[in-house]
Amino acid sequence: MSDRLLDFTQTAMGKQIAGLLGVPTPPKLRRAKSGYAQQPLEGKKVLLGSASAGELSPALVSALHEMGATIVVSTELPGLAPVKKAATDAKIPLKTEATGEGAHAYVFDASGMEGTAGLRQLYDFLQPRLSKLAANGRVLLLSRAAQDTASVAAYTASMALRGFTKSLGKEIGKKGATVNLVEVGAGAEGTIAGALRFLLTEHSAYVDAQFLALSKPAKGALLNSFVLPLAGKTAIVTGAARGIGASIAETLAREGASVVGIDRPAEEGALGLTMSRIGGRGLALDVTSPDAGDRLAREIGGLDIVVHNAGVTRDKMLRNMPQHWWDQVLDINLGSILRINESLFQNGLNKGGRIVCISSIGGISGNAGQTNYGATKAGIIGYVEKLAEQMAKNGGAINAVAPGFIETQMTAAMPLMPREVGRRLASLNQGGLPVDIAEAVTFMASPLAAGVNGRTLRVCGQNFMGA
Ligand SMILES: NC(=O)c1ccc[n+]([C@@H]2O[C@H](COP(=O)([O-])OP(=O)(O)OC[C@H]3O[C@@H](n4cnc5c(N)ncnc54)[C@H](O)[C@@H]3O)[C@@H](O)[C@H]2O)c1
Repeated sequence: MSDRLLDFTQTAMGKQIAGLLGVPTPPKLRRAKSGYAQQPLEGKKVLLGSASAGELSPALVSALHEMGATIVVSTELPGLAPVKKAATDAKIPLKTEATGEGAHAYVFDASGMEGTAGLRQLYDFLQPRLSKLAANGRVLLLSRAAQDTASVAAYTASMALRGFTKSLGKEIGKKGATVNLVEVGAGAEGTIAGALRFLLTEHSAYVDAQFLALSKPAKGALLNSFVLPLAGKTAIVTGAARGIGASIAETLAREGASVVGIDRPAEEGALGLTMSRIGGRGLALDVTSPDAGDRLAREIGGLDIVVHNAGVTRDKMLRNMPQHWWDQVLDINLGSILRINESLFQNGLNKGGRIVCISSIGGISGNAGQTNYGATKAGIIGYVEKLAEQMAKNGGAINAVAPGFIETQMTAAMPLMPREVGRRLASLNQGGLPVDIAEAVTFMASPLAAGVNGRTLRVCGQNFMGA
């Protein structure tokens, strides 16, 4: 389904008419056209700042340098010392900011920040420069998670960054720029590089105003190569015949995985077409069948990546909802995931396996008429939180991606008004595309997300629902 307003306002005449009518023009988002590159920021400037007590400069300076970025610093800012020291130690060149210079990204290490004085350093870094942020640019803040901070003032400053991030997202979305906050746990510094490769590049075009927590990675989980990070991995994706699932299958394959797409027997034809297009294999299987897990282990086996994407809606107010609609949604969207995983934990999932489940912002905000759907999608968020420790013990991880409004057959079937509202009530002023979810799932499925376990990442263009 195409977004006619977005298409129209991308034309010269459309832009002019929208301007005259005062209609907001959704920005054109730049999305990745190919897989992860060794130096994705080559030729791009990143202005790096730090709070005066920032602790993350060594990890940031080396990650940005390896990505090929020109690291720019301002000599006026109080946090220059930790950045300079990190660069000198690693023999990495820094460029001094010229007056009025813009950048692709502004990255600020807010760790070690305390109280309002610390927050003032963030203001001093961003406020004078914001108007120079590139279209489709990135603001990335890094901090210590509030629960890992030592003082009341540091805890307060860490929580304040969340409100700052959410508010700034609503200001810079107009130009397709995003802001996100990475909360780095103790021992997770080595995982910053992978997160930056996702959050500072076009792979995260529709991820906006989110908090991503990094924790100490499982042994052996860190990445060996940034290019084709899924080479040699076997992945399955449920609901892969069309929509988001087809795009996930394609994006996993792009990064080197061998992909088996699963869908209902009734969709076997469509599944075959999708899988032959991406060089994968199809397996007709209803995820709710009692032996689904056993069949996956028997017919594929040796799985490194499992993506639970199959999902349905059967919307009705609870007072009118027939029992079979309740049961069907609960079983496809949640029950099947629990059963298949239990079976794969016994047999079929490799050590270090990564599981990604598709939740929804509907599970966070709730919607009238979606008690069944909302329950399943919120259940997924709890499920990944609870299973994270068990997965880490086996060197792996489990996470969820919560899509906002995504242009698929599911949303094309919505009535006009709710569809238009769903699209526009977001800082990026448009619905996402299946590939936006696929990029986030691919990140979660790869060693780039070595520090991410038990988390749910919203991919919603900062949709205002439940935010
Ligand atoms: N489109 C959105 O805006 C949106 C928003 C939030 C969450 N989601 C979630 O994303 C996922 C994919 O959504 P979509 O929009 O691509 O939906 P879709 O309806 O276009 O595709 C879903 C796929 O799942 C398959 N499927 C359904 N039941 C199955 C079963 N029992 N066994 C095997 N396969 C089955 C379908 O045949 C279909 O190919 C779902 O979990 C959905 O809840 C979508």
